[in-house]
Amino acid sequence: MTRRIRKAVFPVAGLGTRFLPATKTVPKEMLPIVDRPLIQYAVDEAIEAGCDTLVFVTNRYKHSVADYFDKAYELEDKLERAGKAEQLEMIRNPLPSHVRTVFVTQPEALGLGHAVLCARPVVGDEPFAVMLPDDLIWNAGPGALAQMADHAEKTGAGVIAVQDVPRERTSSYGIVATDGFQDRHGAIRGMVEKPNPEDAPSTLGVVGRYVLQPGIFDALESTGRGSGGEIQLTDAIASMIADGSRHDAYRFQGTRFDCGTHIGLIEATIRFALDHEKLSEPARASMQKALDELAVAEHD
Ligand code: UTP
Repeated sequence: MTRRIRKAVFPVAGLGTRFLPATKTVPKEMLPIVDRPLIQYAVDEAIEAGCDTLVFVTNRYKHSVADYFDKAYELEDKLERAGKAEQLEMIRNPLPSHVRTVFVTQPEALGLGHAVLCARPVVGDEPFAVMLPDDLIWNAGPGALAQMADHAEKTGAGVIAVQDVPRERTSSYGIVATDGFQDRHGAIRGMVEKPNPEDAPSTLGVVGRYVLQPGIFDALESTGRGSGGEIQLTDAIASMIADGSRHDAYRFQGTRFDCGTHIGLIEATIRFALDHEKLSEPARASMQKALDELAVAEHD
């Protein structure tokens, strides 16, 4: 057994260009699924996995991420006076008391790998998680990160979440090559960022959950700019693997919504609305109505 992760890094300093114009003023991580921003789902998953230190790598425009986890005195006061106990409860304690937040600035958007490197002074010399909040993963049992943290604790390996993706979409993912799987995990032989379908070594795409060993920081220091001119986390992991460091691909249990794309955000909204205690019925009725109206319009 090795150390359990305690720290989770949330790189949220990207520009979010796929959601412009909304992301001109609202960070992608603050886009809501029903009534909670994407970042909240990822933070809950990290805390459930045992993390007590949440490290947000932000840029100077993203005050709203910090504000979200801060106390909102004026709003609390207003809700209290108005007797809105339910809403007050929702915002009063955004995090459990044992959890702390740390904010680190990425001065320039030089890529995911560079963003992770910015967290080095806070993470130090211990295993840690990296979570990309625009990958929303829902599971009835333990969350994806908890599953991966268990595996990392048992093996001391770096653990990378993967799922099968359509071959025509490999150029949107980091793609891993393994020698096969035992249960949910398989040792990674190689890793390449966003390959064209004809060059992809497999169709196993990396999803935004990682458990990394601290050696990744030295690897990132010596990683040059890669795909898209950015410092890629995938390249640093690939160089560690080439040097003999064990990294396992992990097929987590759960449903992943790629909320970094329009359709993924829509899918997540539909699913969470249909599962929602109060919204399920009206959401179903409204979807049926929209489909019926469309069918009539198409028929006319
Ligand atoms: P993406 O590739 O999704 O980029 O980054 P993006 O800027 O967020 O969104 P698009 O593609 O322009 O719409 C993956 C993750 O890495 C973070 C992002 O915030 C996101 O969580 N990131 C990316 C950084 O923190 N810094 C960077 O320089 C780049």
